[in-house]
Amino acid sequence: MKPEDREALWRVLEARRDHRHFRTDPVDDAALLRILDAFRVAPSVGLSQPWHVTVVRNAALRQTVYDSFAGVRAREQERFQGERRALYSTLKLEGIREAPVGLVVSFVPPVQATLGTTSLPAALEYSVVSAITLAWLAATAEGLGLGWVSLVEPGAVHEALGLAPHLRPLAYLCLGHPALDLHEPLLQTVGWAERRPLALDWRD
Ligand SMILES: Cc1cc2nc3c(=O)[nH]c(=O)nc-3n(C[C@H](O)[C@H](O)[C@H](O)COP(=O)(O)O)c2cc1C
Repeated sequence: MKPEDREALWRVLEARRDHRHFRTDPVDDAALLRILDAFRVAPSVGLSQPWHVTVVRNAALRQTVYDSFAGVRAREQERFQGERRALYSTLKLEGIREAPVGLVVSFVPPVQATLGTTSLPAALEYSVVSAITLAWLAATAEGLGLGWVSLVEPGAVHEALGLAPHLRPLAYLCLGHPALDLHEPLLQTVGWAERRPLALDWRD
């Protein structure tokens, strides 16, 4: 790889943000397909590729996902007290209705034994997460914003979208044109949390 390749990669890594504010105009189909193509090149334990993606452009279905989010958010807010709860109530934690595309990334449990999962079966789910990260970077390179919403009930998403019984939704991703230019994690900007230095030690 040339130095300019490394620099280009780092521009993408640094520019990637979790977005919650979106414009509502559509995402170009060719860009969407390039982002989905990130799953093709993603690593997975035993080359299991245990994922399935459902593209949700239907606004009524996205509203149903939002309804699930609203319930989870209300419950989550109760877990914080005092000033922390007040700050939580101001946070925007999703862009499900504004973002024109939702991506439900489901885990597909393999039917047969998978190489590499004997001591750590969760490596299968980790594989799905690592693939999502590549798609996140691909979206960034397209100039699009992606936001990961974990505050939804997997069962509600499964039912609303009529997913096949063997699929286990792991992530709901909002994809669209970002409405805000973010240069640091939004949760840091609003004073909820801060980036920390890497916890690191060495065994030379
Ligand atoms: C597994 C996962 C779940 C997340 N779920 C949410 C979520 O439900 N709502 C939200 O606003 N951000 C969510 N985020 C985004 C994080 O808040 C964000 O990555 C973090 O604050 C750092 O910001 P950055 O991604 O812009 O660097 C999630 C991120 C990950 C990796």
